[in-house]
Amino acid sequence: DAPDSFAGRLIRWQLECGRHSLPWQGTRDPYAIWVSEVMLQQTQVSSVIPYYQRFMASFPDVASLAGVPVGDVLTLWSGLGYYSRARNLHRAACVIMEQYSGVFPQDAATLQRLPGIGRSTAAAIAAFAFGERGTILDGNVKRILARYFGISGYPGEKSVEERLWQLAESLLPAEESNHQIVVSYTQALMDLGALVCARSRPRCQYCPLQADCIACQNDLTADLPVPKPR
Ligand code: ADE
Repeated sequence: DAPDSFAGRLIRWQLECGRHSLPWQGTRDPYAIWVSEVMLQQTQVSSVIPYYQRFMASFPDVASLAGVPVGDVLTLWSGLGYYSRARNLHRAACVIMEQYSGVFPQDAATLQRLPGIGRSTAAAIAAFAFGERGTILDGNVKRILARYFGISGYPGEKSVEERLWQLAESLLPAEESNHQIVVSYTQALMDLGALVCARSRPRCQYCPLQADCIACQNDLTADLPVPKPR
C-alpha cells in the first residue's frame, strides 16, 4: 500500500504506537482468537484480560469447552456481563464438534453462521487467524469512519451502516496483502479507536489520519458520530 494511503498510514502507526502484547495477540489459533473477540464485544480490554486467561486455562480448546455443562462456562463468566455471550460460545463449540467434526471453520462466511458471531466478529477472527482480507466494523470503527468521512447520519441506522460497510471495504489494504498486513491493519483500526479516536477528547494530534479527517479539520469531533435520534 502507498505509504500515504489510509491503510498504509494505519499500518505504520500500529507498528510504532499500537498494542503488541495483549494475551490473544501472537497466536493464529482460531479458537483462542474467537474467545477473545467474543469477550471484547462488549467489555474493555483491561476487564477482559483476567477472564480470558482463566477461560483459556479451563477450556484450552473447542473440545474441552463443548465437553462441560453450560453452567461451568457461566460460572467462569460470572462478573463479565452479557451472559448470552457465554451461552452462545458453548452452543457454538457444540456445533463445531457435531457439525464440523471438531474442526474450526476457516473463513468468515462460515464463522458468521455460528451463534454469537456477527459480521464484524467473523471478519476479525478470519483476519487474525487466517489472514483473510475483510473489514471489521465495530463501534470504534464506525466512530473513526464517521469522523474521517464527516458522515452526519446516525451509524445505527440501516442505510448509514450499509454505507459504512462499503467505505470500510474500500479502505482495506491491497488484495495481494499477506497475513501480517491483514493482522496489522485490523489491529490498527481497533487500537486507533481505543487509544486515539476516543469518543470523548480524541487525541487528534497523534492521529495518522488527521490531515484527511473531515471531523478533525472542521472541529466536529464532538459532534460526530451523531447520537441516536429520539
Ligand atoms: N477489541 C476487539 N477486538 C480486539 C482485539 N483483538 N484487541 C484489542 N481490542 C479489541
